[in-house]
Amino acid sequence: SSSKILIKGGTVVNAHHLEIADVYVEDGSIAAVKPNIKVGDDVKVLDATGKYVMPGGIDPHTHLAMEFMGTETIDDFFSGQAAALAGGTTMHIDFVIPVNGSLTAGFEAYKKKAKMSCMDYGFHMAITKWDEVVSKEMEVMVKEKGINSFKFFMAYKGSFMINDELLLEGFKRCKSLGALAMVHAENGDAVFEGQKRMIELGITGPEGHALSRPPLLEGEATARAIRLAKFVNTPLYVVHVMSIDAMEEIAKARKSGQRVIGEPVVSGLVLDDSWLWSSDFLTAAKYVMSPPIRSSGHDKALQGALVTGILQLVGTDHCTFNSTQKAFGIDDFRKIPNGVNGIEERMHLVWDIMVESGKISVMDYVRITSSECARIFNLYPRKGAILVGSDADIIILNPNSSLEITAKSHHSRSDTNVYEGRRGKGKVEVTIAGGRVVWANDELNIVPGSGKYIEMTPFNYLFDGIEKADENYLSSFQAPVKRFKSST
Ligand code: URP
Ligand code: ZN
Ligand code: ZN
Ligand code: ZN
Repeated sequence: SSSKILIKGGTVVNAHHLEIADVYVEDGSIAAVKPNIKVGDDVKVLDATGKYVMPGGIDPHTHLAMEFMGTETIDDFFSGQAAALAGGTTMHIDFVIPVNGSLTAGFEAYKKKAKMSCMDYGFHMAITKWDEVVSKEMEVMVKEKGINSFKFFMAYKGSFMINDELLLEGFKRCKSLGALAMVHAENGDAVFEGQKRMIELGITGPEGHALSRPPLLEGEATARAIRLAKFVNTPLYVVHVMSIDAMEEIAKARKSGQRVIGEPVVSGLVLDDSWLWSSDFLTAAKYVMSPPIRSSGHDKALQGALVTGILQLVGTDHCTFNSTQKAFGIDDFRKIPNGVNGIEERMHLVWDIMVESGKISVMDYVRITSSECARIFNLYPRKGAILVGSDADIIILNPNSSLEITAKSHHSRSDTNVYEGRRGKGKVEVTIAGGRVVWANDELNIVPGSGKYIEMTPFNYLFDGIEKADENYLSSFQAPVKRFKSST
């Protein structure tokens, strides 16, 4: 049973508003937000004086218990969620990978993997091939299974990648269902060519990974996906924006009025490719992900794009492998499992680089780590807000307390951490998930099975007015059509 909790005297932060108030939690939801709430002694009282009381983080991009590149991520729904909660994230949206191309089988498999959940979670669905069956199953996913977003891969040639014809089919299908189309934007054919080039040059180490897929291939695919989405007139969500090249395409599209969302991930905001020159294989291999972590400068530009609203929310792409798995690619970078950690570090690192550094306000912090994600996936204000009636997913963050990130104390099962040794301010001291204190005094108190699957409904705010825009688009053709008819 979930307890009654009073959070006293903190600065309560929503994306639109900030005030000093108490927050009262009962039966898993927020029952009151106002100053000086009086309660009986059956209520657990937490003092938040001088601290921020904020909606728990929502990570829009994770891969737990995923079979990928011949192995499986080391974090499953137990260890990945433990890490998330210890870092102040109370909901994540994971990518279901179809089983032998079947969305239904993939969905069932992921529901099983997620049975042990101790926090709320939702699903995106990856589309890894295209045919009539997939198209039909998409409708079932949207109408019956609570999925309102689909990720298409423009990279991973030979496995997940689909071509432009099929990408267009997928976009059209998303539009007709009111589901959001997401893309992994890298030119997979060119990446394949880049990899061959590296191997021919005798570059088989981890540096070959980054060198074979430069920012221009991410920029090209981002531009192409944006134009195809415009042609279909459907909203587009670009996942893991890692480069200036991709970011600038998103900026241009948004400036022209196109409905494009850009998601940078923590690794791209915080890290650069200086590891590339390490002569130690594992030191370099642990940073291998796709698109790659870029040279210094891209990180700062992506931070700036968050400040100005070109990019809207921060994910992690948490996808972890331990050293023995990374070592599968010791002789050939193409075999290094792609992915880095971040689910535990996101809330703290975004605070450190964006708020502590003076780049954004505390309200904007809540927006980019929680509220905007809830809004995009149709969960707001149940999630992403400290409002009466919202789910009691709450963190208490101490802006004056610092921490050091290290694999020795993190909660991921991975034996390494790409943020090893980083020190900074903004520590999540308390996490409340589903009305339960699950993280306090540096200790987890989690209940496997207590997390809920959060169904997400189609037609989010990005679809508002889309039909009107379609009419305008069609009517722009009518004048020439009339002229053609009268002259024949
Ligand atoms: O390297 C990455 N990003 N691994 C996870 C799969 C993906 O493309 O998001
Ligand atoms: Zn208020
Ligand atoms: Zn991807
Ligand atoms: Zn990913």
